[in-house]
Amino acid sequence: MRPVPEFTSIDDLLSRMTLAEKIGQLHQGFSDDGKFGPDSIRAGAAGSVIYSNSAYAGNVAQRRVPAEEINALQRVAVEESRLGIPVLFARDVIHGYRTTMPIPLGQASSWSPEDIEAGAAVAAKEATADGLRWTFAPMSDIARDPRWGRIAEGFGEDPYLCARLTEAAIHGFQGDDPRAPDKMAACAKHFVGYGTAEGGRDYNSGEITPTTLRNVYLPPFRAAVKAKVATLMACFNDHGGVPATANRRLMTEILREEWGFEGIVVSDWNAVAELIEHGVAEDRRQAAQLALEAGVDIDMVSNAFLDYLEELIESGDISMERLNDAVRRVLKLKESVGLFANPYAQSEGNLTTADRQAVLDLTRKSLVLLKNENGILPLKSELKRVGLFGSSIDAPQVMGGTWNLDGRIEDVVTVKGGLTELVSKQVQIVASSLADEAIYLARGCDVAIAVVGEHPGRSGEANSVVDLALPPGQLELLQGLKAMGVPLVVVVLTGRPLCIPWLAENAGAILWAWHPGTLGGTAIAEVLLGIVNPSGKLPVTFPRSTGQVPIYYNHLRTGRPLDPYDHKGSRYVDSPDSPLYPFGFGLGYTSFEYSALEVADEDGGARVTCLIENTGSREGEEVVQLYIRDRVASLARPVRELKAFARVHLAPGEAKPVTFKLDRDC
Ligand code: NOJ
Repeated sequence: MRPVPEFTSIDDLLSRMTLAEKIGQLHQGFSDDGKFGPDSIRAGAAGSVIYSNSAYAGNVAQRRVPAEEINALQRVAVEESRLGIPVLFARDVIHGYRTTMPIPLGQASSWSPEDIEAGAAVAAKEATADGLRWTFAPMSDIARDPRWGRIAEGFGEDPYLCARLTEAAIHGFQGDDPRAPDKMAACAKHFVGYGTAEGGRDYNSGEITPTTLRNVYLPPFRAAVKAKVATLMACFNDHGGVPATANRRLMTEILREEWGFEGIVVSDWNAVAELIEHGVAEDRRQAAQLALEAGVDIDMVSNAFLDYLEELIESGDISMERLNDAVRRVLKLKESVGLFANPYAQSEGNLTTADRQAVLDLTRKSLVLLKNENGILPLKSELKRVGLFGSSIDAPQVMGGTWNLDGRIEDVVTVKGGLTELVSKQVQIVASSLADEAIYLARGCDVAIAVVGEHPGRSGEANSVVDLALPPGQLELLQGLKAMGVPLVVVVLTGRPLCIPWLAENAGAILWAWHPGTLGGTAIAEVLLGIVNPSGKLPVTFPRSTGQVPIYYNHLRTGRPLDPYDHKGSRYVDSPDSPLYPFGFGLGYTSFEYSALEVADEDGGARVTCLIENTGSREGEEVVQLYIRDRVASLARPVRELKAFARVHLAPGEAKPVTFKLDRDC
């Protein structure tokens, strides 16, 4: 029988714990670590467990976490450990679980907090059915450098957009009450400034001035804390020589003392021990001391807390008060997801029709139409023969993108699968993934659709690039197709913005589909065929060339701004200065007109209204974006700052007023 801990409060439970049991709560074990297993759980030596994979084989679907395995381990914790404290099981559920959604950068292109929240709720539903109650998402890092592979995992370059989408994702994972059986604790990561890695090279050092920290990197985390995120993860890298894992200013002074955050800070993977590699700790004992003192509560897998906290407490180098504080937070986290009352996986995890619809809606809205010359899209019904070319036309693993640990290959609809299902039976699809054969076949086609882009192993963690061009071989295919004189539609599956000047010049249409997930092929086919009117907008600037990086829309004003007429000022002499496609850009199959713009003072802030009219012949959705500019301030301010946005659905000829209210301190 389970020795139910008859505690009256978390503090009562804390008072009954031995030092070793307390330390165990601050250690996160690793499911595939030889040292971890029922024995450590029975001894109370692992408060939480990360279900990761030692063999990180690119993006090949990883070992699924079986609910039975988690329940069996939980039974050991609950029934065989001295106090019966349940273990918290965690995994990176980043953009879906069994059913994958677009990578987060794709989700951000939806500019739809509602759809993102619904997507996170679907992910939580599937993951909790396997006993997972903690995900390491959302990634709330601002990314201004597309060379950095982790740009794929975040919501783009803008603090406001990222903050709103962060809140939405947190709410999707946690719900109003994370104790519900199909909800889980979220983790806003990586606190803070991971995206500053120099040269876009993952894990590299960064620099942040105090103003940039406040204005750019902190706002999404501030929003996460206000949205009651249960946990935060410290980032791997250092700023000005202080690794985030040992940064007391960030994790204690700002996060706890200034913002009042009461949740958990977890280190990143092995990051506590890596303080030695950073050169700020002599050994693991000192690393543990620095991290705990700075504000890390849980050590993810480095074992430094497990091995050294007892010694550090006994020597007085760490106070019992700080230790108790961290343990209390871990116990509260467990209570907040209902683990004491219901430690085992309970939900079924089966998706309803509405859940699948939510995934499809998010996927549709993530697609960004960058070019559509002469209305080449949607494809015309009189087409007889459509060529479908490129190595990714039928590649389920490419659709999943980075962090696809649990998506099932057999569920994925590829571009070929989606088109074949939706195209009219009168149309013949001629498909080839071989470049020379594709060019040969293109001759007889009415239109050539090329599916190009990046393999998922090229973006995500540790996958940075020096060159933002299309990967080798793809431009040759596109040029070959173009040379055959057939209209060329290019679908790009990718984890980051790429520099595509040739495409911008020569393709008839460009559909930026990111890595779109399980239902990507359906959504792409629907857009190509005009069943769905694309409405995604870029959450990040597309440079013309890698040399323009970092390039982002909300840059500060300079004393010598570019004069577009005589091309003087802050400029390049070998390239236009503008981006290829700006932040917020995206086309559709209809047109919208803005009129009656009014700005009025209201409650010390402003009320901004305008009328949006669908002037085209198809129904569609417009993302209305409000930017401000602070004309005179004590510090230089960005040339433009996004402060509000709204999605508006309009039938042809329909007009709707849109109103935004801005606080004075927005
Ligand atoms: C390292 C990554 O930086 C982090 O985002 C992830 O959650 C952990 N590994 C756990 O897999």
